[in-house]
Amino acid sequence: MRRLKSVVTFIVVIAAFSFGSFITKILILVEKCPAEHSGLHVATHADNFLLVLVLSSPRNMEQRNAIRGTWLRLSPRHIFHSYYPEELLYLPNYGPNGHLEIELVEHQEIRLKEYINWKKSSKNLHSPKRARKIKVKHMFAIGTMQLGKAIQDNLYREQGKHNDLLLLPNHYDTYYNLTEKILQAMNVLTQTFEFSYLIKVDDDTYVKLDTLINELISYDNKLLHKEREYGTNPLPQLYWGYFNGRATIKLHGQWKEYNYYLSKNYLPYALGGGYVLSRKLCEYISNNSQILSLYASEDVSVGTWLAPLRNVYRWHDPRFDTAFLPRKCKSYHIVLHKRSMEMMAQIFDGKLCSGTGHSSVLEYYYDWTKTADKCCDNLVP
Ligand SMILES: *[C@@H]1O[C@H](CO)[C@@H](O)[C@H](O)[C@H]1NC(C)=O
Ligand SMILES: *[C@@H]1O[C@H](CO)[C@@H](O)[C@H](O)[C@H]1NC(C)=O
Repeated sequence: MRRLKSVVTFIVVIAAFSFGSFITKILILVEKCPAEHSGLHVATHADNFLLVLVLSSPRNMEQRNAIRGTWLRLSPRHIFHSYYPEELLYLPNYGPNGHLEIELVEHQEIRLKEYINWKKSSKNLHSPKRARKIKVKHMFAIGTMQLGKAIQDNLYREQGKHNDLLLLPNHYDTYYNLTEKILQAMNVLTQTFEFSYLIKVDDDTYVKLDTLINELISYDNKLLHKEREYGTNPLPQLYWGYFNGRATIKLHGQWKEYNYYLSKNYLPYALGGGYVLSRKLCEYISNNSQILSLYASEDVSVGTWLAPLRNVYRWHDPRFDTAFLPRKCKSYHIVLHKRSMEMMAQIFDGKLCSGTGHSSVLEYYYDWTKTADKCCDNLVP
């Protein structure tokens, strides 16, 4: 009798398990279903090429709508006269001691000039020969812990309409809790979605998404072409943004940091207005989320978390205007932080940057050959 019972239990367990995997398969298939068919080269790709993660606070629905109505519409199906030429992109090799080579200031300067020239001349080029099918997905991350009922209801309504909110029930959403938030969001996204790259932005950031994706595709193509050359070394993983290596540790005010004693300044990090990470780096963060030290600032934390890895390619790019104050407006800026809803509409309508910016905030190339305190003195004229 006992034996029979355990056999029955066994069968039930097996059946439940098979049913479970069946359901999981279906769910995964649903997720991987071809995207809606859209004229150009896009659609039917199982994976998301780029995830756009916007950190947004519960009450900022209007900001989210401004983003939905402007730069998120620069989806790939509207673009790509031609991909950005791979030869104009830098991709580091490993040096003799297993360190990734760094990009010199002179080269950063040349690359910016080449980009500006390409931009001028690329208007009339044809479609790329080998167009890749890519899919982009965006999510607004919002913590919903202890939210009032009215605001929760608003969020559910917004979710019903757009289905693009990443609601985090275990996160208490305050401005001073962004490190927790990025960690939770990255955890969920990495475990839920396939993707190759993730861009993190705030809800007051404007991204020239078409340009960014175009270049990211070329970067990714180049990486695929070069893959073999890396041999037994790990492939470089992208950490793309505007870096600072000599920010002083905040000892007062809202961002006061109690626990940063590893170095005199924050280790180099990409400023939080917007930065791109390749999937493996998100995995690394997600896999280690239980043992990472959380610091007051989210962007500082990411920089420090990735500090010891030898396969991180830190791409410092003056086209990321991602500091706390916007810099002087430049037509080549592709990620623009601290933009109001009105400015977003204007940029979308063709204005180069909108707003005057602060000419006192200097723009620089990053000197990786020097110690971090001398990182940032080579100014972009
Ligand atoms: C930050 O969020 C976490 C959960 O993500 C929560 O446990 C914690 O209380 C929050 N801290 C503050 C200061 O709000
Ligand atoms: C993270 O963990 C998953 C599951 O164990 C593993 O497949 C993946 O390779 C890990 N990634 C990194 C970068 O450590």
